[in-house]
Amino acid sequence: MKVGFLLAAVAAAMMSLTGVASAQQPIVIKFSHVVAVDTPKGKGADYFKKLAEERTKGRVKVEVYPNSSLFKDGEEMEALQLGSVQMLAPSLAKFGPLGVREFEVFDLPYIFDSYEELHKVTSGPVGAALFKKLESKGIVGLAYWDNGFKVMSANKPIRVPADYKGLKMRIQSSKVLGDEIKALGGIPQVMAFSEVYQALQTGVVDGTENPPSNFYTQKMHEVQKYLALTDHGYLGYAVIVNKKFWDGLPPDVRTALEGAMKDATKYANDIAKKENDDALAAVKASGKTEIITLTPDQKAAMKKALVVVHKDNESRVGKDTIAEVYKETGFKP
Ligand code: LMR
Repeated sequence: MKVGFLLAAVAAAMMSLTGVASAQQPIVIKFSHVVAVDTPKGKGADYFKKLAEERTKGRVKVEVYPNSSLFKDGEEMEALQLGSVQMLAPSLAKFGPLGVREFEVFDLPYIFDSYEELHKVTSGPVGAALFKKLESKGIVGLAYWDNGFKVMSANKPIRVPADYKGLKMRIQSSKVLGDEIKALGGIPQVMAFSEVYQALQTGVVDGTENPPSNFYTQKMHEVQKYLALTDHGYLGYAVIVNKKFWDGLPPDVRTALEGAMKDATKYANDIAKKENDDALAAVKASGKTEIITLTPDQKAAMKKALVVVHKDNESRVGKDTIAEVYKETGFKP
């Protein structure tokens, strides 16, 4: 009798430790991210919450924390590993500090010409191999979510590499992105996303890069006079969970959540392009930021200056990984 009671108490304690609750208490998934609600990732997270809660009939509660309200860049990966948060969707440019530098292949300038090319990679062997590498870090990769192709911004017109000389440009924590800015003659500054608006406003940095959806929803158009349609690189996400939490879920719940994630992924990826097109139109309509369309010659000059970053990062990102991506996308250096 006593032994049975003790076993039940131990089981209950273990369940609460792993976040798996009793019949009455829902399993809580804290899903933290750094962008606004009104973005491809923000909407994708909210849609996942809806599907997950409906399909598990309330056995799972998903708490979405947008806009760095729970954890910000530089904190969230460790919080996930410690189990203080169960789910994140960091940009693919933020896995270097975790020690999985191969993710920076997605940051290589001009490596993808379209979402279609990108999807060949995320749904192919490279996408799977990268997720495999997360397991030893106590993390499971569930899905790749799109944002879009990046623009550059500053308070002076930026058309060709020479225009970037000496500009302090905020970047994410990716060495490839740092090399990209250096190749243009700029000075890269790694900074948490939550701090970018203020840094631009106060002149701590001169410019930045991001897809229009992030530019507009963070109100960067209020503090940047020029935006160049460079399309020089891609920004997307990996939706990741704490492995111990995920493996400890009741199998039927996990299956339902996998289904919800699959459908939320389709939704997020379907809306990504339109969200960015609409955001760019909104920037234009604001009249606060001049949008620069590069001429073919200016585009060619940017590409020529930036592709050197591929070779320079072969040892960091992996020669084989880069070759595999070239094969999928048809990119020719
Ligand atoms: C950033 O510039 O930090 C963004 O990529 C944030 C995000 O998650 O889209």
